[in-house]
Amino acid sequence: MAKQTIREIDLKGRKVLIRVDFNVPLKKDGAVADDRRIKAALPTLNHALAAGASLILVSHLGRPTGDAATDAPFKMDRVAERLQAVLGRPVKKVNDTVGAEARAACSSLRPGDVVVLENVRFNPGEKKGDPTFAAQLAGLADAYVNDAFGTCHRDEASMVAVPERFERSRRAIGFLVEKELKILDALLGKPKKPMIALMGGAKVSDKILVIENLLPRVDHLLIGGAMTYTFLKAQGHATGKSRVEADRLDEARKLLEKAGDKLVLPIDHLTAQTLDATARTEVVSGNEIPEGWIGIDIGPATAEDYAARIAAAGTVVWNGPMGKFEDEPFRHGTERIAQAMTRSNAITVVGGGETAEAVEQFGLADKMAHVSTGGGAFLESLEGKTFNSLKVIPDL
Ligand code: ADP
Ligand code: 3PG
Ligand code: MG
Repeated sequence: MAKQTIREIDLKGRKVLIRVDFNVPLKKDGAVADDRRIKAALPTLNHALAAGASLILVSHLGRPTGDAATDAPFKMDRVAERLQAVLGRPVKKVNDTVGAEARAACSSLRPGDVVVLENVRFNPGEKKGDPTFAAQLAGLADAYVNDAFGTCHRDEASMVAVPERFERSRRAIGFLVEKELKILDALLGKPKKPMIALMGGAKVSDKILVIENLLPRVDHLLIGGAMTYTFLKAQGHATGKSRVEADRLDEARKLLEKAGDKLVLPIDHLTAQTLDATARTEVVSGNEIPEGWIGIDIGPATAEDYAARIAAAGTVVWNGPMGKFEDEPFRHGTERIAQAMTRSNAITVVGGGETAEAVEQFGLADKMAHVSTGGGAFLESLEGKTFNSLKVIPDL
């Protein structure tokens, strides 16, 4: 369902509270490690500025616990600095969210001004969806825009209770959320065939609901990553020291039965003696992992088979690295898949925290049709879930 967008709401002379997802990865020294999410909000921010609005930007960063010392790295200062650099105009960071400093900064806003409030999760009311906190936050602005796709699966105050405080004509989604929803609609609606889903990553338990929802929609669902070994174990193969979720074997067996030949498992494996980057490695053909060895990446024959299927596809959706790509010796399966996607004429969509990180690391993100800014939000969308944060935005 199409939602009211920032195009449809009146912005001239208004203070617009824009909920963004600036929950970016940080380096050890606190610097922003990856500004993809900040850049992804720019179309919305620039549109609102050009329309004569002033901006009050609200985001969470990390998962603060309420302890001032351990929460300090989650202050928004470095994020605001990076925003100022990419936006190319002054950005004022204030040190609270709804306190005196925030109220003062917001009351004096002029068209074109940009304020970044302090980490919204520093307020206990945010996680709880507290109505008093929501009223205080909403009271700072004249209109509300949700451009925080990565947070849409959360029912926190700034996502649900805050927009509810505004008249319906003053609530909208931004261009990033609009784009992410369009892509998901295409994937789950009438995708260009053949459609292939690639699922990998750490745990099958994280992805079972996604696999179940995608199976009826895809021609093939290709498995890689550590979850492979739960499936192989369920089929009765030897899995050595590979990561297996012993409590998910029944579920894996049922899924395999239901999927039939739609679900495709690797045909060879890169195995290692330990998870360490310096470990001895061997390629194992077939599906018996020798005792003492860990399946750590898809093997070269699997990578070529998957690459050929990707080349012939109309649509490819990918979540979950094919191996422990963070270490050079184990990254080749994941890199081959990423490369095959960029060479394919298919509509290529990548989502998930580590998967997006992998394609970014390979320098291939710009060559995909779309790399989602969502981790959990992307996965839950693929599960077919709908979000309260979007229900409160009027349909078009
Ligand atoms: P995403 O965040 O993209 O949804 P996941 O969180 O499910 O992906 O999984 C990513 C992690 O899975 C990566 O950090 C990667 O190192 C790990 N991984 C993938 N394959 C293996 C494997 N065979 N053995 C151990 N870890 C693996
Ligand atoms: C994310 O990075 O997935 C979002 O910003 C949500 O963060 P959260 O998992 O801490 O709620
Ligand atoms: Mg992850």
